[in-house]
Amino acid sequence: MEFPAYRPRRLRRNERLRALVRETALSANNLIYPLFVGPGRDSAHPVASMPGVAQLSVDRAVKECEEVSSLGIPAVILFGIPERKDSVGSEAYVDSGVVQKAIRAIKERVPELLVITDVCLCEYTDHGHCGVVKDGDVHNDSTVELLVKEALSHARAGADIVAPSDMMDGRVGAIRTALDQNGFEQVAIMAYAAKYASGFYAPFREAAESTPQFGDRRSYQMDPANADEALREVELDIREGADIIMVKPAMTYLDIVYRVKQQFGYPVAAYNVSGEYSMIKAAGQNGWIDERRIILELLLSIKRAGADMILTYFAKDVARELRGR
Ligand code: PBG
Repeated sequence: MEFPAYRPRRLRRNERLRALVRETALSANNLIYPLFVGPGRDSAHPVASMPGVAQLSVDRAVKECEEVSSLGIPAVILFGIPERKDSVGSEAYVDSGVVQKAIRAIKERVPELLVITDVCLCEYTDHGHCGVVKDGDVHNDSTVELLVKEALSHARAGADIVAPSDMMDGRVGAIRTALDQNGFEQVAIMAYAAKYASGFYAPFREAAESTPQFGDRRSYQMDPANADEALREVELDIREGADIIMVKPAMTYLDIVYRVKQQFGYPVAAYNVSGEYSMIKAAGQNGWIDERRIILELLLSIKRAGADMILTYFAKDVARELRGR
């Protein structure tokens, strides 16, 4: 059929018609809210480059979780900022660590909320890299051993899903094996499978105090120029036992989201990262864009590309907005 028989505008005439033929919908059910948990009591340190986001003490994080859950958001992902950092990130894998405490406290007060934990060392090392540094580079296999300890410690504290974000080779398989051997066969793995070395993480590094003290993360995170390699990374993680595959960042990697969903048909998560959040917040505060409108458009594009779920600092705003409709 072609014009004049086919007139696409016929179905755009009013909101009822548009709603009738709408292909993609956002739902609070598919949102994951990131939380930064730090030391102290009753404290919230605002993150300057991320308006509306703060580093929270465990008790305040629990309160935040009550709100998140009441908005219909099913899950949070926790990032820990320890009191003390050292060269091997010891605070990441002690049962008394800040994330472990937060998991237990959240599970006690808001048991229905899914708790996902970021499994990485960069927030816990004094050099800010995602693993053990040997000869000026992050050493893969000794880092994997520590990541396994971290994931197990999160599982013991009650995490539902562990999310390794370090990009070491072989870590998903090692974590899966260790979880299974320790009775945690029901704990799922959300693998940061295609994680790019991105400038969009800068505000997160302020929030998590995890900026590398020398060099950068290009020897372990992916080159933004590569797409086929992302599919190989995803395939490896699926073979090693990943239950959910993550692509990160989201906005500038929608082609990867699309290809991963098409090729593997696995649950795909996309991380709408800190820099994407900060840009929209800054432009919104300047009155240059309509922040609310842009947020919905952005998240919709991520879903349209094929993401089943979105990790986003906008989760609460979006859940409220969807509720109000
Ligand atoms: C830890 C980690 C990072 C992010 C999530 N997990 C930072 C990094 O790799 O430097 C970034 C999230 C964001 O920017 O919102 N490795």
